[in-house]
Amino acid sequence: MCGISAIASYQPVAKKLYQCLINLEYRGYDSCGMAIFDQQEQQINLRKNIGNVEEVNAVENFADMRGIIGIAHTRWATHGGVTPENSHPHFSNDSNFVIVHNGIFSNYQSIKKKLIAEGFIFSSDTDTEVFANLLQSKYQEVNNVELAFISALKELEGSFAISMICTFEPEKIYAVKKDSPLVLGICDGANYVSSDINAFIAETKDVILLDDYEYVILTNKQYVIKSLADQKIVKKNIIKIKWDQQTAQRGGYSHYMLKEIFDQPLTIKSAMHVSDEEIKKIARKFIDKSQSFLIGVGTTYYVAMVGTYLLAKYAKLYVPAISSDEFPTLVQAHSDQHMIFFSQSGETYDTRMAIKVSQMGGAETSAIVNVVGSSISQMVNDCIYQGSGPEICVVSTKAAVSQMVILYRIAMETGILNGTLSIEKANDIQSNLKLLPDIIEKLINEESGFIRQLAQETNQNKNWLFMGRGIYYPIALESALKMKEVTYIHAEGLPAGFLKHGTLAMIDDSLYSIFFLPANDGSELYKTTLMAIEEVKARSGKVISFCLVDDLETQNLSDHYFVIPDVDSDIMPLIELVIAQLFSYYSALHMGLNIDKPRNLAKSVTVG
Ligand code: G6P
Repeated sequence: MCGISAIASYQPVAKKLYQCLINLEYRGYDSCGMAIFDQQEQQINLRKNIGNVEEVNAVENFADMRGIIGIAHTRWATHGGVTPENSHPHFSNDSNFVIVHNGIFSNYQSIKKKLIAEGFIFSSDTDTEVFANLLQSKYQEVNNVELAFISALKELEGSFAISMICTFEPEKIYAVKKDSPLVLGICDGANYVSSDINAFIAETKDVILLDDYEYVILTNKQYVIKSLADQKIVKKNIIKIKWDQQTAQRGGYSHYMLKEIFDQPLTIKSAMHVSDEEIKKIARKFIDKSQSFLIGVGTTYYVAMVGTYLLAKYAKLYVPAISSDEFPTLVQAHSDQHMIFFSQSGETYDTRMAIKVSQMGGAETSAIVNVVGSSISQMVNDCIYQGSGPEICVVSTKAAVSQMVILYRIAMETGILNGTLSIEKANDIQSNLKLLPDIIEKLINEESGFIRQLAQETNQNKNWLFMGRGIYYPIALESALKMKEVTYIHAEGLPAGFLKHGTLAMIDDSLYSIFFLPANDGSELYKTTLMAIEEVKARSGKVISFCLVDDLETQNLSDHYFVIPDVDSDIMPLIELVIAQLFSYYSALHMGLNIDKPRNLAKSVTVG
């Protein structure tokens, strides 16, 4: 949540900072702003307002701003409402210091009181302005920017990523991080600071990842990274990023969500290319440790739940999935446990806290993460990078499916180690997973038209139930979450067997239920899900189902159905999820909503 960018260059920075803000907008988009040092006037100019980056630019005209060093911010409100005053950057009272900040200073209220007593005036409700004024106060004491910066930071608790410029050292950017991401982009003639590599990927692929309690002082030609604890210089490696700007761009699709759904054949291939050694290493831990948990939040909690079903099926192990936010309440961590965490961004606060709790108890930790160098990837003992490339749409699609594919591989490997899955059967499933990219590619190209039309027909519906049994249950939950996120319409996911224990009371001819079910293979799973469909139909409820082209039984019970290809039952859940993603997308499209940036949401929720 919130995107920070800063540039020190030989050239004017306004246009580049604007582009960085556009690239970071998925992190928050209720207000934004920019502060640039103007050499001619020898002062910092600041422009900010409420609205998304384009809307604010239309009013504030960022490109007009003169200067070769500046900071910028796009906000997702936490402390203080969405107002121009609460937007970043924030000046100190004397306008000599200007700050952008991501995170929360938990003790800002008491420091604010002290500063007010000293005579400081506050124009916003934010914790960030407290830091700006504290900096001014410290500078007045020590008359040295670096010492003032360190001393102000030492007083504040909480999480932060900060960039700062000031009139006393107008060629320098100061930046620091704790618990919130911050990366440096290094190139000839300009150096960058940002919350995310995507901000400056078009300019440089040479990146340095700052660790917690490290700060950097950077100019257009050099950078020095130091430890906050003792101000000693820290040597860091430059990492070369492999993806390019094109991968991060929309490439002809009307929305990132659609592009990312269509990216899935490729991202599944990347998930299949994760090395066997990495998969085996994590699988081994399920066997070696007496207890394991799968942990994520939002979409990644549902990914974790899919893992529970896969490990039960292939390895005959019960590995509970826990939502990261509930984890500290539920689990007593100890050294004979293995926790595996899932996160697209690698920055989610709740998941980071769950890792900390696990590590404090001495548990072994692993993670599957998309963003290279992200906080979570650095925190855990072993991290698998899923290689899905940047996922820009706030709602997760390709990252989630790729993590599920990696989980198939881990669960199968665990089954082999456990002696519960034969190598032949594992090879069989592996071959089917390899077919998945082509199957999905064909499906989304051929079926999009029908899915779009059905989304239009059902567009007036105000309540959805999404149901499935077994592994189709987390698939239903994730599909319902997609619907809620992009259409703002109530969609409840539940186990199909649970329906008759209460929710059935809601059914009437105005309520639509979507059923996720396997092919009509005579299995219990198929038969019992069909029974739930019958329960809905008997009460005049509307039904949309997934079925094979020749499954007349399901078709006769359904008002509408998505025809699924006749593929192996192991990979069917993933195919249904992709169809559900498209259905949510087209539902939101017909409603004219802001699909890539749904209201009230942010892609990376780095606060608790
Ligand atoms: C936020 C997003 C969700 C996402 C969740 C977990 O709440 O809005 O879409 O599923 O964070 O994110 P992560 O990056 O940890 O997968």
